[in-house]
Amino acid sequence: MPYGFLDIALTPSVRAAQKSMGADHLWEDFKGHRAYDRFSQNEAAFIAERDSFYMASVSENGWPYVQHRGGPPGFLKVIDDRTLAFADYRGNRQYISLGNVNADDRVCLFLMDYPRQGRLKIYARVEALALDDDPALTTAVLDEGYRAKVERIFRLRLEAFDWNCAQHITPRFTQPQVEQAMGSVLERIAALESENAALRARLADVGGAS
Ligand SMILES: Cc1cc2nc3c(=O)[nH]c(=O)nc-3n(C[C@H](O)[C@H](O)[C@H](O)COP(=O)(O)O)c2cc1C
Repeated sequence: MPYGFLDIALTPSVRAAQKSMGADHLWEDFKGHRAYDRFSQNEAAFIAERDSFYMASVSENGWPYVQHRGGPPGFLKVIDDRTLAFADYRGNRQYISLGNVNADDRVCLFLMDYPRQGRLKIYARVEALALDDDPALTTAVLDEGYRAKVERIFRLRLEAFDWNCAQHITPRFTQPQVEQAMGSVLERIAALESENAALRARLADVGGAS
């Protein structure tokens, strides 16, 4: 039975490393594993919540390169169960990822959910599209009201994905998540501050009268 992600990741050198560590038997038979070559509702929901991910690409000189991509939550769109797309915003104009994928379309995405300690890794082939190449896709991908200059659309064709466990992921929270969690505490502080101010004013009145 295929195990899509490992079919790609297990190169001869990786196999040799597993053998040297006595772990090769763990990964010889993929019985019970899914091919993981189509996104289910589970992955779609996870991807829809992300406001950033990391994308590794392959340089022409063989060096790996990894870069952060961010946007409003859900800016990485699941177009169908094998297709992702996102708007590529203007940045420092080095165009390293763009240049890399123009020469070699293979990328690996890494998506983190810090509060729930989840991580999803995705092998895909990517193509860079001009905004008028596929107007319907561009419309589907653009996030109205997000302040960024969109330079292109990256469309990614899924090869395989895999989930990792929660080990060693420290939960971290975004500012809106912290504000939401702190909402009732902040309201209570505001109420106490206003009560405090009223009491001080009354005290001042009493002091002035005596
Ligand atoms: C004005 C400006 C300056 C930036 N400077 C840097 C920088 O020095 N180093 C960096 O890694 N990213 C920098 N960034 C963020 C990158 O431009 C952004 O992550 C971009 O997507 C990088 O793509 P690339 O690494 O694939 O070329 C900057 C962004 C802006 C808008």
